[in-house]
Amino acid sequence: MAISNEFIEEVRSRNDIVAVLGEYLNLKKAGRNYRALCPFHSEKSPSFMVSADKQIFHCFGCQAGGNVFRFVMKIDNLTFMEAVEKLAKRAGLTMPTPVRSKEAIARNKEKEDLYAANELAGKYYEYCLQKLPEAKTANNYLHKRGLSPEILKKFRIGYAPQSGEGFLKAALGKGAKQEVLQKAGLVNYNGSRYYDYFRGRVIYPILDAKGRIVAFGARTLDDTKQPKYLNSAESSLFAKSKLLYGLNWASASIRQKNQVLLLEGYMDVIACHQFGVENCVATMGVALGPDQIELIKRYAGQIVILYDSDQAGVAAALRGLDLLIDSGLEVRVAVINGAKDPDELLHKEGRAALDQVIASAMTLVEYRLQQLVKLTDITGSQGKIFVANELLPLVARIKNILEQKEEVRKIAQRLELNEETLFLQLKKIEVKGLRQRITQSVLEQSGADTGFKKAQRDLIQLFLNDSNLYKQWQDQLNPEELQDPDLRRIWEGMETLARDRDSFTPSEVIDLLEDDRLTGIVAQLSFNQLDCADGQKMAGELIKSINESHKKERYKLLSEEISRMLEKSEPVNEELYAEYKKLTKEFKGTKI
Ligand code: UTP
Ligand code: MN
Repeated sequence: MAISNEFIEEVRSRNDIVAVLGEYLNLKKAGRNYRALCPFHSEKSPSFMVSADKQIFHCFGCQAGGNVFRFVMKIDNLTFMEAVEKLAKRAGLTMPTPVRSKEAIARNKEKEDLYAANELAGKYYEYCLQKLPEAKTANNYLHKRGLSPEILKKFRIGYAPQSGEGFLKAALGKGAKQEVLQKAGLVNYNGSRYYDYFRGRVIYPILDAKGRIVAFGARTLDDTKQPKYLNSAESSLFAKSKLLYGLNWASASIRQKNQVLLLEGYMDVIACHQFGVENCVATMGVALGPDQIELIKRYAGQIVILYDSDQAGVAAALRGLDLLIDSGLEVRVAVINGAKDPDELLHKEGRAALDQVIASAMTLVEYRLQQLVKLTDITGSQGKIFVANELLPLVARIKNILEQKEEVRKIAQRLELNEETLFLQLKKIEVKGLRQRITQSVLEQSGADTGFKKAQRDLIQLFLNDSNLYKQWQDQLNPEELQDPDLRRIWEGMETLARDRDSFTPSEVIDLLEDDRLTGIVAQLSFNQLDCADGQKMAGELIKSINESHKKERYKLLSEEISRMLEKSEPVNEELYAEYKKLTKEFKGTKI
């Protein structure tokens, strides 16, 4: 949607961050800033700061941060445009009508129609469960599964009658259009007549993060009938791989705990809520996908996988792991004993049992180790080596070296292998993966040169707070020399702004960055002003030092890579070798 920058600036300037946040939080003056308890994580003493000068907030506890738009997005769970709209309204400004294409308008109309049809269906099924005599079996079933009336209401659980045209008639009577009902997957055509898609089933509406019904899951009342769950087909509102069931009821609690519980079934989510555990979502019969992981990252830093205890559940848990390892989320796998899923565990043993399962969740490596040990005979060295070889590549992908060491220690202990040997073996695997990582954050792996890291941060901090300085110096540094990918993206943000503006503020940079973590970093960097009298001099020095460090890192990397090639008698890449020689000359006589 195209809303002009001018309008966004107008909205920003008419919504002072202190005033807006003051409507949500109890702000106390603290020097030049304001302080409050952070609404995005639970804390006892306030570490959430608001700067009136910078028009920025930053939490020193959970690293959340951003501008007034970001705050409203986060706290009210809105998109950027929705936040602009809300704040425009607050300031008494009318949103300019966005210039939209005819197609876009038509698409939007179609979506609105589908939402309306789903809402109509949702209300109808709820009504049927409550009122129809034929819903007795369904009510008995739900009662037997231990669902309270409040929970039925909260999750908008319903019943689709047997007849096969109850909904169709009711909907047409309310003026709904046949073709829309069909498009929404609520009604089918069998060649001669239209009929209801869901019949004689318990209905679980599937809601999006904003609480709108986008699809339905319909459970059979007769366990011999397949499928157990009949789900709505995918539509422009509903993509299984993008949605997490339960997110709309869970988001506040997920943020509070900074943790999301990933469950397998609708029933598990519902039971958790009934027992007061609210930070839970479920995938709908598919492995966790990249879009869902991104979604989770917007809400929490830790994910606990709590799948069914059967073989299928274990396999499902493992399928998603690969993506999760690289996601940056802290991943734990919880294992249930004595019940088939969280739902059964809660009803059998209560809340404390589930809490216990969550508290004893394992890291991914521990989990894999446990699995492998079950399947392998580890009394002999062959089995041990097999298990170690399976696990080390996993460990190699952990970014934090302390965590790596810890995992190696656990593996060594369990397999009764020498810890140091195992660690050496790990390093070998890492060298192997080096080539792919040449352009990635090398620093994190080698754990070296904190001075380099600091110089990069300082430079970005300096420029964020003084866009003139950035404009003057931007050509002197190739952003690829910034080895921290986060800082590189912030740099790119500044680059974009500098292209068509005389100057920019950190708050504008924040608008460009969609990732919560990145906006947090910008807020943090602009919150703490660098202590320096001469910006020009400092910029020059920092850039020089980054140039140097970058070259040294590169040199180290090349030497490792080339010696690896020689060791393995692989042909040495000529380009790399030429670069290596050039750097060798440059560094002659200096200590690296
Ligand atoms: P489960 O069978 O574990 O679901 O399948 P559940 O919610 O625990 O079901 P009951 O009522 O207690 O027996 C996990 C999820 O997989 C999807 C559903 O989203 C379900 O919640 N699924 C399962 C289907 O889509 N179709 C099926 O036939 C079965
Ligand atoms: Mn189940």
